[in-house]
Amino acid sequence: MKAAVRTRYGPPDVVRIAEVDRPTPRDNEVLVRVHATTVNRTDCGFRAAKPIIVRFFSGLIRPKATVLGTEFAGVVAAIGTGVTSFEVGDKVFGFSEDRFGAHAEYLSMAEDGPLATMPANVTFEEAAPSTEGSHYALACITKAKIASGQHVLVNGATGAIGSAAVQLLKRLGAVVTAVCDTEHVELVRGLGADRVVDRTAEDFTKDDQTHDVVFDAVG
Ligand SMILES: NC(=O)c1ccc[n+]([C@@H]2O[C@H](COP(=O)([O-])OP(=O)(O)OC[C@H]3O[C@@H](n4cnc5c(N)ncnc54)[C@H](OP(=O)(O)O)[C@@H]3O)[C@@H](O)[C@H]2O)c1
Repeated sequence: MKAAVRTRYGPPDVVRIAEVDRPTPRDNEVLVRVHATTVNRTDCGFRAAKPIIVRFFSGLIRPKATVLGTEFAGVVAAIGTGVTSFEVGDKVFGFSEDRFGAHAEYLSMAEDGPLATMPANVTFEEAAPSTEGSHYALACITKAKIASGQHVLVNGATGAIGSAAVQLLKRLGAVVTAVCDTEHVELVRGLGADRVVDRTAEDFTKDDQTHDVVFDAVG
């Protein structure tokens, strides 16, 4: 199969298209034919080894993962003998955080990993980029033990993480105040926010309203 391969750290031109072996799914794994993926900040950071601490996870001298890519959407091409939740032909999307590998025609994922069937009304190009921001948003929401009825303010509600957080929090039953710039007020309201603060017109830190949790998704 074809894949975007890099064998050293560096700028984008260390990546080249090459022929590599197609992964063989283990008993508990699903082989996905990738239809859409992204080049996101994680890929760029691990490609360049910036910040340098990345090298402690991904190889001190040379990268262990030669094919980057965490977010993907595609079609199940084969399943391991023990797989029961997916069938060949299913449209799936997911997030390959530990092994990367999505910048290729095929990748294999554990059946019980971050992999799910795609909603019918979503395209591959929409599904793939929805995964990483949601992953981090959900991790923070879980860590903060946010429960139904709590008041949560999301700063940076248009970002990858913030926009996912607004939607996940509403699904949990939280009351959400979202902060964004003027241009995106309607968009953020459309994500389900109960109240939207235009950060160019109001300073939420001087607001009278209090919150159980402030989710700051601005770097
Ligand atoms: N995405 C990831 O996978 C990931 C992983 C680990 C850590 N992080 C970190 O998490 C943070 C958010 O990531 P993200 O991917 O969601 O970023 P993003 O998509 O770039 O979103 C950034 C958000 O910050 C807002 N913002 C930018 N400048 C602002 C300012 N001066 N004042 C107030 N708001 C401002 C933007 O709002 P407007 O649209 O209204 O301008 C936008 O909502 C970053 O620090 C990032 O490094 C991200």
